[in-house]
This record gives sequence, C-alpha cells and structure tokens, in this order.
Amino acid sequence: PPLDEILNLHDFEAVAKVILPDKAWAYYSSASDDEITIRENRAAYQRVWFRPRILRDVTVVDWSTTILGQKSNLPVYISATALGKLGHPDGELNLTRAAGKHGVIQMIPTLASCSFDEIVDAALPNQPLFLQLYVNRDRTITKRYVQHAEKRGVKGLFITVDAPQLGRREKDMRMKFVGDDAGAKVQENMSGVKKDEGVARAISSFIDPSLSWKDLPWFRSITNMPIILKGVSTPEDAVLALEAGVQGIVLSNHGGRQLDTSRSGLENLIDIVNVLKTRGPWPNPNFSVFVDGGVRRASDVLKALALGASAVGIGRGFLYAFCSYGEAGVEKAFKILGDELEMNMRLLGARNLKELVPEMVDANALQAH
Ligand code: FNR
Repeated sequence: PPLDEILNLHDFEAVAKVILPDKAWAYYSSASDDEITIRENRAAYQRVWFRPRILRDVTVVDWSTTILGQKSNLPVYISATALGKLGHPDGELNLTRAAGKHGVIQMIPTLASCSFDEIVDAALPNQPLFLQLYVNRDRTITKRYVQHAEKRGVKGLFITVDAPQLGRREKDMRMKFVGDDAGAKVQENMSGVKKDEGVARAISSFIDPSLSWKDLPWFRSITNMPIILKGVSTPEDAVLALEAGVQGIVLSNHGGRQLDTSRSGLENLIDIVNVLKTRGPWPNPNFSVFVDGGVRRASDVLKALALGASAVGIGRGFLYAFCSYGEAGVEKAFKILGDELEMNMRLLGARNLKELVPEMVDANALQAH
C-alpha cells in the first residue's frame, strides 16, 4: 500500500512481513524458544489501564523531553537492531537521516550493516547518537571502538548485558547464513563467523560471555560517555547498577530474543522503581530508567512514562518502517507517534510529560496473572 495508507506502527509490520525475503523476516521477527516473552511484551501493555483526568485545558500539549541530557522531540529513542541491510539497501542510514530531520535519537548497533563511520557521517552536525555495545573478547578492540565513538561525538554508551550468548531463535536458525548477507561485512568488532546456524549465531561469536560487574570500572576508565546497562530485569541488578555508578539502565528482554519466559520490561518497571525510590532521590537526575519491548503505540509510551520510565526504546517498529518504505517510512512512524501522543495526552489530561504521574494508570492487573 502507498505510505499514506499506513495508519499505525502495526501496519509497517504487516507490510514488512509480505515484502521481506524469508531470511530477513526470520531474523527480524524471531524471538527465542517458544516466543512467549515476545508475546508478553505486547500483552503487558494491555493489562494497564488509564485513569484520565478531565477539564484541564489541553489546548497545548508538549511531549518533547531530554534523554541523557540530549534534546529529543519524542520520549522515544530508536533502539539498536542489527543488520539493517537484510531489509533495505540503505540499512541503518534510513534511521539516521529520518532521526536527524525529526530530532529523534538513534542508538547505533555494534552489528550494524553500515559501518559506524558511515552512520555518523550521515548524521547532521550535532545530531545526538547513542551506541549499543557488544563487548568483544579482545578488549583492545572494544576500547578502540568505544573511544572512537566518543571522539566522533556519541552521547551515550549502552552496554548490552542480557546477551552473554545469543538466544535460540529457531525461525532464524532454520535459515543458513551466507557470507555477505546484509552487507554484514565482518567488521573489526566481529570475528570468527560461523555459517551454519542462522544469522544471529553467525554474527555473534565474538561476544564475551565473561563480562561481569568487575568490568564496569574499566569502562568508566576508558570513556566519559554516560554508561547505560541495556537488559536489566530485576530490582537486585538495578540496585547493583546504581551502586556501580552507571548513568542508567534499560529494562529490556531484548525484544523477547534472549531468555524466553522472562517478564516484560514494563512489568519489571514497577518493582524496580519501588526499590530505587528507597535508594535515593526519585526521579533520580543521575540515573535514568528506560524500558523497551513491545512499544508500538503512544498509549504504550505514556503508560511506561507514567510508571516511571524516562523514555522508551522501539526496535522492530522503526525497523519495519524502513524495510517497507525506507527513510520516508521512519519519518512517517515519528509522525504517527507524535499525532498519537498529542491525542492521547489530551484525552489523558497530561499537558506535558511531568504531568504523567503514576495515578494516571491502573496497573493493578499488570502483575496479577
Ligand atoms: C534487536 N535488539 C538488539 N539489541 C542489542 O542490544 N543489540 C543488537 O544487536 C540487537 N539486535 C536486534 C535485532 C533485531 C532484529 C531486533 C528485533 C532486536 C533488541 C533491541 O535493541 C530492543 O531491545 C528490542 O527490539 C525492543 O523490542 P521491540 O521494540 O522490537 O518489541
């Protein structure tokens, strides 16, 4: 369908499913094992209900914010999804260009199809970018990569901590990886590609499973970028992260692609915020809590923010937008989210993101299943 018939982010997924080659669809859409967590990521949002307030003069509503000190026109950032060229010849650059035009922040994946420098070169001067990091067994490679990113102006380092090994994504494993798929050039930060177990396994063999809390001071010593741990699921680890002095966490189960039957980030948010409130100021200006997984509607975004998230990440929503319509698709996705935010904030009685308080949602059913 023409782009102007796309009404919501789900529509991009429906188009992508039809137009993508089988291998790309398998890699992007798959989740681990029985795919229970990926389903739960969507279902969790449907167990939270709004408690809208009325008669508040909602003529003007404003959903702009800052994320790690960077201005953002949406309370949403583009989460890292690997191998963009499997689905579109321009790969991640579709996201970079659209993000630059619309003041949205992109997290660059370590396993991007485009090289890191191509992506940064496609950004506008001063366009904020974050970097998602898979830590290499060879720390000299990781150090060089991180320091290069900082030199090129990246504003936040998201270290993925839920993937010491990639999950079994069986749809993907049934496909064979072919060397130059996705322009998945084996860049310096990857090595030792294995070709017989699907795309994900093929590209991930360099990741260091020995990564531990003890490594965090080393990361602090090599960069001044804010450090965020991507893939936290429990209050115990949220407290360890706070005590370790990192600047934030992403409550994420990697889009359901890692440990299947993990809870959703949204559900974990409640317990984690409750514990963080006992450990210092809340909201804590020095410690951001982000959520990703299953966010497709502005109503999802507003629920996560009301429950205490600083911003949310979207992976597949933007990925499917550029697979289907390139850069224009991503621009349309931003426009859709902005329109939905405007309407939902009016109907909810929140004129800005500060007015989104926990009392605006009923999350009683979220954990009661
Ligand atoms: C991902 N994600 C991911 N995360 C990460 O830290 N490094 C990576 O390389 C990737 N790659 C990746 C590829 C694909 C195809 C998907 C769908 C996801 C996870 C991603 O950053 C994010 O956590 C989820 O995508 C959020 O869930 P939704 O928005 O896709 O439901």
